[in-house]
Amino acid sequence: MSSPNGELRFDGRVAVVTGAGAGLGREYALLLAARGAKVVVNDLGGTHVGEGASQRAADIVVDEIRKNGGEAVADYNSVIDGAKVIDSAIKAFGRVDILINNAGILRDRSIVKTTDQDWDLVHDVHLKGSFKCTQAAFPHMKAQNFGRIIMTSSNSGVYGNFGQANYSAAKLGLIGLANTVAIEGRKNNIFCNAIIPTAASRMTEGILPDILFNELKPKLIAPVVVYLCHESCEDNGNYIESAAGWATKVHTVRGKGSVLRASLDETVTPEFVKNVWSKVTDMSQAKHVDNMAQATGALLEVLENLKSGEKDVIEDTFAFTNK
Ligand code: NAI
Repeated sequence: MSSPNGELRFDGRVAVVTGAGAGLGREYALLLAARGAKVVVNDLGGTHVGEGASQRAADIVVDEIRKNGGEAVADYNSVIDGAKVIDSAIKAFGRVDILINNAGILRDRSIVKTTDQDWDLVHDVHLKGSFKCTQAAFPHMKAQNFGRIIMTSSNSGVYGNFGQANYSAAKLGLIGLANTVAIEGRKNNIFCNAIIPTAASRMTEGILPDILFNELKPKLIAPVVVYLCHESCEDNGNYIESAAGWATKVHTVRGKGSVLRASLDETVTPEFVKNVWSKVTDMSQAKHVDNMAQATGALLEVLENLKSGEKDVIEDTFAFTNK
């Protein structure tokens, strides 16, 4: 839906934004509402380490949207109760078209000091919460043959970060979840993408250097996420990193690799592995693999090459064994 002047509009759409009482979620909710969406502003209103609860955060954002002439309702449930969150959208507006899984907490500790509670709470809010909200929204989206879902990942998951074992594991888990939601949703026009943001918020206060913190306005990321939620956006299963008015697609690549034995009759030995390790880890011919079928297809090709014993993929291996 676009207005005559080309503005991307969301009139008639219902969006659920989790953790929308502050930071990035608040900006997503404000922009979606400004573009005509009816918004469920979900926020548990606890501390950044996941303690306590308050209705204040969600209420303030709902008031702000209404003052600007938009439509919004508050939802104070934890995302772990995903069914209740989505139910708020159905009760208030009768449908759900967009789900932005954004709610989050931090409980940073080094691996040795991480308690079971630190691990479980972070996984519950980020990973299970995103799953439960998605699971509850899915049947509605399937029935209407439309849906846009966002998962919120982090560079901490993609690259790792000292003191964030729990958080980085959950955040990379969200990329895995986005991959599968994208596959299961595709035939019903339900697209799922992940955002990898860096923004100034209470979560990053004191972590990011001041000079960076001041430039990393959450408002600059909202248009990227809002575009990903628009019906005109055909992206599905992508990860988009964005910060400071900049965005890029991120994806994994796989190297050409190396066979680990000279023929199908031979077994793989650690010595053989050691000798071809530079080929195993050589990324000069790395390519992106789109899906499981492609990944498995490449394995079948390796087996075929081994069987025939002729193709160049194992030439170097023979050279090694004939030394
Ligand atoms: P924020 O702390 O300002 O906002 C998170 C909101 O989620 C808070 O309002 C909080 O009350 C709410 N929340 C927490 N647990 C909840 C629960 N169980 N149910 C419902 N709401 C809950 O943080 P920020 O920075 O806006 O983060 C938003 C998302 O972006 C998070 O998932 C975070 O992990 C992710 N992220 C943020 C980065 C940054 O640089 N700010 C970097 C990478 C990822």
